[in-house]
Amino acid sequence: MNHSFGSDNYSGVHPKIMEALTRVNEGHATSYGGDEYTAKAIEKFKEYFGNDIDVFFAYNGTGANVLGLASVTKSFNSIICSDLAHIHVDESTASEKFTGCRQITVATIDGKIYPHQIEDRIQRVNDQHHPQVKVVSISQPTEYGTVYSPEEISRISKVARNHNLYFHMDGSRISNAAVSLNKNFREFTRDAGVDILSFGGTKNGMMFGEAIIFFRQQLSEDFPYIRKQGMQLHSKMRFIAAQFDALLSDDCWKRNAMHSNGMAARLAEELRKIPQVTITQSVDANAVFVIIPAAIIPALQQEQFFYVWTEKTSEARLMCSFDTRPEYIEKFVKKLRELLGRL
Ligand SMILES: Cc1ncc(COP(=O)(O)O)c(C=O)c1O
Repeated sequence: MNHSFGSDNYSGVHPKIMEALTRVNEGHATSYGGDEYTAKAIEKFKEYFGNDIDVFFAYNGTGANVLGLASVTKSFNSIICSDLAHIHVDESTASEKFTGCRQITVATIDGKIYPHQIEDRIQRVNDQHHPQVKVVSISQPTEYGTVYSPEEISRISKVARNHNLYFHMDGSRISNAAVSLNKNFREFTRDAGVDILSFGGTKNGMMFGEAIIFFRQQLSEDFPYIRKQGMQLHSKMRFIAAQFDALLSDDCWKRNAMHSNGMAARLAEELRKIPQVTITQSVDANAVFVIIPAAIIPALQQEQFFYVWTEKTSEARLMCSFDTRPEYIEKFVKKLRELLGRL
């Protein structure tokens, strides 16, 4: 399949990651995370986030999110998130199944949720008849490709603290957020009050693998059992660990994310020159949301595939990846102009 703007998980594996996989494919290693590669990768995370954290690996982002949430909730609790949150609209009812919790959504127009909206949703505390709110979950970047500032995150964390809630961040594209903010990971996660972080690898060049990071170690006590029960304990763990080690070494994560963010910025710049299309969201990371006349979408998708995000408004999501090249953007924009010219 040609390059597409379908998603950053349409891309293949970054060569550095593939090399790392090949390198650790030598001989035997203790399974289930008892190996030296897993220990090394965990140390790498500690270099970024500090020593007093707990790190666990999982296969996918849904598993990381759901099990992270399961570790701090009981089935009579509820979780506040945006109405666009991946945990709400793109993970089926996995979080409901594994946590038993009700999800309470907040309407979003830019992918973000704001403190006053969270305050509004905290209701009937200590009322045995009502689901008891326990966690606030945000995505960074959001599903709309927008990025919270560290201050915005701190403000959410303050609300969470004031109401005894835990704060979870879905960071499936966290490297894109770090590059966008020009901050280190810690500044807008741990230092901004996040308790549990899903740290993504797959969308930034890994073959598979995500990490769940606990910034308050007392929260992770039961996690090994929760992960096993949740079927996310990889037996040949060295293959997730080696990928993270490579991603977090020599700024591989940063270069990949700088590239994909840069390509999205370039694409957006080209699209802004075309009056018949409208960019709908701030292009903070590697996604461009754009309204394109519905009549030309199927033909444009033939050129390079992308998803229609909102059918009613004909809003498309164009996602750039570590392997998006300027010439793919040129080709796409050329085709777009050509199709618009025929309308
Ligand atoms: C915001 C967000 N969170 C999490 C995920 C992880 O999903 P998966 O379970 O497919 O790895 C995705 C993937 O699309 C995502 O966009």
